[in-house]
Order: sequence, then C-alpha cells, then structure tokens
Amino acid sequence: MNTINKTKLPPGPKTKIPLGHLFPFQRDSLGFLKRIADEHGDIVHFKVGPIRVVLLNHPDYIKEVLSTQNSNFVKGRPLKMAKELIGEGLLTSEGEFHKRQSRIIQPAFHRKMLESYAPAMTDCTVSLMNGWEDGTQVDMFEEMIRMSTAISGKTLFNVDTEQETPEINQALKDVMSLFGRISLPFSEWLFKLPLRSTRKFYNAKARLDETINRIIAERRQSKIEHEDLLSLLLDAQDSAGGMSDQQIRDEALTLFLTAFDTTSIALTWTWYLLSQNPAAETKLHEELDQVLQGRIPTVEDLPQLKYTRMVLGESMRIYPPIYLITRQAVEDFEIGPYLVPADTIVLMSPYLIHHDARFHQNPETFDPDTWEEHAQRISSKYEYFPFSRGPRACIGEPYAWLEGVLVLATIAQSWRLKLVPGHPVELLQLINLRPKHGMMMELERRKR
Ligand code: HEM
Repeated sequence: MNTINKTKLPPGPKTKIPLGHLFPFQRDSLGFLKRIADEHGDIVHFKVGPIRVVLLNHPDYIKEVLSTQNSNFVKGRPLKMAKELIGEGLLTSEGEFHKRQSRIIQPAFHRKMLESYAPAMTDCTVSLMNGWEDGTQVDMFEEMIRMSTAISGKTLFNVDTEQETPEINQALKDVMSLFGRISLPFSEWLFKLPLRSTRKFYNAKARLDETINRIIAERRQSKIEHEDLLSLLLDAQDSAGGMSDQQIRDEALTLFLTAFDTTSIALTWTWYLLSQNPAAETKLHEELDQVLQGRIPTVEDLPQLKYTRMVLGESMRIYPPIYLITRQAVEDFEIGPYLVPADTIVLMSPYLIHHDARFHQNPETFDPDTWEEHAQRISSKYEYFPFSRGPRACIGEPYAWLEGVLVLATIAQSWRLKLVPGHPVELLQLINLRPKHGMMMELERRKR
C-alpha cells in the first residue's frame, strides 16, 4: 500500500551537468527512458535544465493523465515548436477552441464518410502496384509514403498529389528531421541554435504551406460539389462564427500530415514483420485468397478480413508509429504516492508499455493470433494504445484501420515482399518511429 508523500518528488537519475540528460535523451530516447524506468520504477523524475520531466511507465498512471485527470493537462510546451509548423490545428490546439474544431471535423470520420473513402484507398494502391515488376527491389517506406500521400490527398481534399509527391516528400523529410527533435519536451534550445537543419525546416515549412494553400484556393474556384474534409472546413468557414483562412490552412495541414505519415510508417513495419515471420505471412495469404479470390477488397469484405486486421494491430504493438505521448501539467497533480508540481512535462510511451513483459506475453514476438486474444483479455486499455486514449486520442483511428486493412489486403494478395538480405533495419526515433535506412524489399509476384 502506497502512502502519499507530498514532500518528495518521484525518484530518478541525477546529473550535475546542466542539460546533462538532454543528450542521452536526444540520442536514444527509448533506450534512455527504458533505462531510467528499470532503475527507478514506474514513475521517474528527472530535470533537463530548469524543466521538470516525469516518465510514467504503467498503464494505470498513464490512464490518470490521458483520461481521469485529463482536464489538468495540456499539450503545452512539448508541442510549442510543432505549432511553428501546423499552427492551431486539431493536434496542437487546446480547450474550448479544440472542442469546437473537433466537432466541425468529426463528421469527416463518420462511418458513411469513411466508407466513401474506401474506393480511393484501393485505387491508389492498385496504381502503385501497377508500377511494380516481379523480382525488382523497392524501398517500401518510400512506396508507402507515396501511396498514403496520394490517399490522403484524394480522400481528404479530392486532389491528385501524385504529381507533387517527391516535392512534398522532400519537404516532409526536412521538416521531420528537425520536427521530431523539437517536438521533444526540452529541445527549444536546439532550435535556437543557428543549425543548417533549422533553415531547412523553415524552407520546407514554406513549401508545405504553399502546397496546402494552393489546394484550398483551387477548391474555392471549383464549382463542383465535394463531400470531403475540405468541404466541411470551407462550409464551416462560411457559417457564422466560422474559421479564418489561417485556421482552415492549419486544420488542413494537420490532417494531411497526421493522416499519411503515421499510416505509411505502420504499413512499412507491417511488411517488414511479415517478411520475418513466414507462418503469419502464410496465414494472411490464406485468408486473402479465401475471402477475396483475386478481387480488390471493399468495405463489405472487412468483417471477413479478421486476420489481416490482427496483423496490423500486432504490428502497431511492436512498432507503435508514435512512440512517445507528451503532456504538460497545468496545476500540481497527484500520481501514485507523489505530488508533482504544475508545469511538469509528462512522458508516456506506447512503445515501452507494448514491450513490457508485465503486460504482454513474449513482447518481442510478432504473433497476430495472440494480439486478438490479448485485445479481449487486457484489463486496461492503456496496455495497448498506439492511437493514445482519452479525449485527445487520435480522431483518425477508424480511418487508419480502414486504410491499413485495405492496403494490406490489396497488396498482399498479389505480392510477397522479402527484405533485401543485408539491408540494415534500425529505428529512427523522431516524433515517430521510422525505419532509419528505409526498407529495401524485393517484390515477388504471388501465384495463386
Ligand atoms: C496508424 C496510424 C495512426 C496512428 C498510430 C496515430 C496515432 C495518434 C496518436 C498517438 C495521437 C495522440 C497524440 C497526442 O496525444 O499527443 C494522434 C492524434 C491525432 N491523430 Fe492520429 N494516428 C494515426 C492516423 C491518423 C490519421 C489517418 C489521421 C487523420 C486522417 C490522424 C489524425 C490525428 C489528429 C487530428 C490527432 C489530434 C487529435 C486531438 O488532439 O484531438 N491520425 N494520433
């Protein structure tokens, strides 16, 4: 039984060097966080310069912050620099404004709307596969980014981004290479340095702004009625108390970025995991052959594509595309036996929880069958939370499942993807968990 000790902060690593924890954290955040959790327990406190940080490494404590005591937490400082890029979009905004924006955008993710996106999702996938040749090698990460960008462009804004994908992709790479670092809680200092990457960040941001502004302008001029996210935003702008041009741009860019980046990462890791686990791959192929018999999947097939969904779910357990969720406390808060001061940054890692043997049996083994069993058994939903939980959980979760399952089914029924021997597979821990060297894979056309 814990006793409240209101005078002591949680235990944690100490350093006499100012910013002493910054560099190990920047170099390998997951390694650093795992080490301090192993050494100090499920609530760990450390300081970086003047900033207090608390790592929560247990589903019960994470639930406290994301759900039970949610109103005491804001995105705050950790997302301050993200606002430089995406402004006051759904991901970064707070309070009443966030609630209002959520209400406006939510209908884009209702079932009927989602179902209407399915054909575009499979069309973009087929168009990608049309360029593939048996026996050749591709970087599946690049391929998934290209395809997911096309899908989000088509479904959310009804534009064909295929033409500009290399440009968007390069801009995103530049943004992400710094965005990941500056999105971490105490990296404002890094951003203040006159680094080449900082200049690149602002250049890339300007290119992304330009793309999104052009999409909005083209839609305004078009006389055709569309039923998509952009129409929802523009209709809301026209109604009383609607959004300014800037807000539309912020929401559109937020949705565009969040939609394709995470999904392409999730799919890339899924191809990798399948290539390393032939039994799961065979089972997936059997399901697809039986359910689809060579047809392109539709929403009607989804209930039968159970194993496909389990593959994706288990892949997001092993490699949750967003590995770190951050918050800032508005007022002092109690957590376990401690009272933590206002302004503290709280870190919660789906990756660490998903790989913790206390909550997941054989956590390093990719086994889609246990994911299903596990999903039903877990006592706390906070043991599996790739989309976060609580009021600020991912609004795009149903969209991500839809795209993920359809793409997986469409590709895997026709192609086997084998990791190119010797290709290094390493995590790049930016704001998300990317494959550091891409994912070179050999394409093998399946014979049914
Ligand atoms: C595999 C795919 C995806 C994963 C793993 C994922 C994960 C997440 C996570 C962990 C958060 C919470 C971040 C935080 O609290 O700081 C989040 C928020 C968000 N996601 Fe996703 N996401 C995915 C796909 C999508 C898609 C497809 C969209 C849009 C179409 C989207 C839009 C958003 C938005 C707008 C938010 C902010 C929600 C809010 O704060 O109200 N995401 N996502």
